[in-house]
Amino acid sequence: MNEMLISEDEIKILLVDDEVNITKALRRLLMDNDQYDVHIANSGRDALDLLAEETDIGVIVSDQRMPEMTGVEFLSKARDLVPDAVRILLTGYADIEASIDAINEGAVFRYLTKPWEDEPLLRAISEAACNYRLIAENKRLNALVLKQKEELQEWNNRLKQRVLDQTSHIRNKSDDLANVNLQLRNSFAETIESLAGLIEMRDRRAPGHSRNVAELVTAMAENMNFSVEEKSQIRSAGLLHDIGKIGMSDRLLEKSLQDYSSKERQEYRNHVVRGQAAIDMVPALREIGVLIRHHHERFDGRGFPDQLKGNAIPLGARLICAADMFERKLIQFPESDALTSALTELECEWGKSLDPKVRLALEEGAQQVYCSLDISVEVLEAKVSPTELEVGMQLGDDLYSGTGVLLLKQGTFFDENAIAAVKRCFMIDPFERDIRVLLKRTELD
Ligand SMILES: [Fe+2]
Ligand SMILES: [Fe+2]
Repeated sequence: MNEMLISEDEIKILLVDDEVNITKALRRLLMDNDQYDVHIANSGRDALDLLAEETDIGVIVSDQRMPEMTGVEFLSKARDLVPDAVRILLTGYADIEASIDAINEGAVFRYLTKPWEDEPLLRAISEAACNYRLIAENKRLNALVLKQKEELQEWNNRLKQRVLDQTSHIRNKSDDLANVNLQLRNSFAETIESLAGLIEMRDRRAPGHSRNVAELVTAMAENMNFSVEEKSQIRSAGLLHDIGKIGMSDRLLEKSLQDYSSKERQEYRNHVVRGQAAIDMVPALREIGVLIRHHHERFDGRGFPDQLKGNAIPLGARLICAADMFERKLIQFPESDALTSALTELECEWGKSLDPKVRLALEEGAQQVYCSLDISVEVLEAKVSPTELEVGMQLGDDLYSGTGVLLLKQGTFFDENAIAAVKRCFMIDPFERDIRVLLKRTELD
């Protein structure tokens, strides 16, 4: 059936009667009305053949009494061929009962008696045509709704797929970004470690000082429940706190603090400001620069460079100050007694140069970091190749490359980065001697 709304002149009507005069008379009657396209058949068989071709017949008017096939029989078969066509039966009074049965069975929309009166017949055919149009329109609308539903479903499926694709794309991008971020962080951490190595090379009076302060200050931050980000920042600040010493003269670095003249003392004090200035160009290091600037402020306000006092000193700088002072005291004592002696030495500093609020964190952190100095643990030495280095080993002598570049200072504790750096350097500029390391008895077992 045509999907578009069927206009009135397109309604096809099939007239079926074995009497040619009757079909001619009916055609004449209908031809006066130009909304009908009239077809004629003079037997049930011919009519069925015609319906097989003309499937868009809208109204069928059939005589009941015909040889071979009655009108009711024909209309029942016609219903199978063109179920939407509206069927009308013309019948004589003698056949009324059979006609009523046909109507009840649904084969016929209406019956009209013969001989007919024109007006009721035309009205019945007009109503049948109207009925057909309604059925056709209903069918068209149903088909349209179904099509739109299918389109909507298809659109929904495509949208769902697109959302899934987008989500997967975003997840991949996010993973890529996380990887790049991790690489950047690792690269940043390696750069900081390298800088710390440079600082230690410069100041030979305190081997491993930057790394030791970094370890201790990280343990203190852990004990004070700093966030991961804050711990990372304070560790970097610990590694770089003396970066300003890189610019100090050899003469000054060779002398001990007690022997400085007032001019030399001022030059020494400048290392905190110079340290901040050195890294201030790097935005990611700027906050660390503030901690570097203030790591020699005293809690009582008598430190340098800005004589800040109490809580006005950034907390991170107060932690570094305590760790720095402890580490410098530690190396003044024999290993067997260093931890206790250094802590005892600091007792008079709490509330003066050091903030008493960080005392517990320092004492606990020192126990954790310097447990290797415990006298109950035997420290042994061994000679190893670069491939035999392990995390936790301590370097027994200054380590030089094959051509004489100082790589690491005596006393440095090997972590993964230091081991990787030594292995890389060994490939580029190999040294001949094995590396002398110190390690705890448990590490040999
Ligand atoms: Fe310093
Ligand atoms: Fe220091």
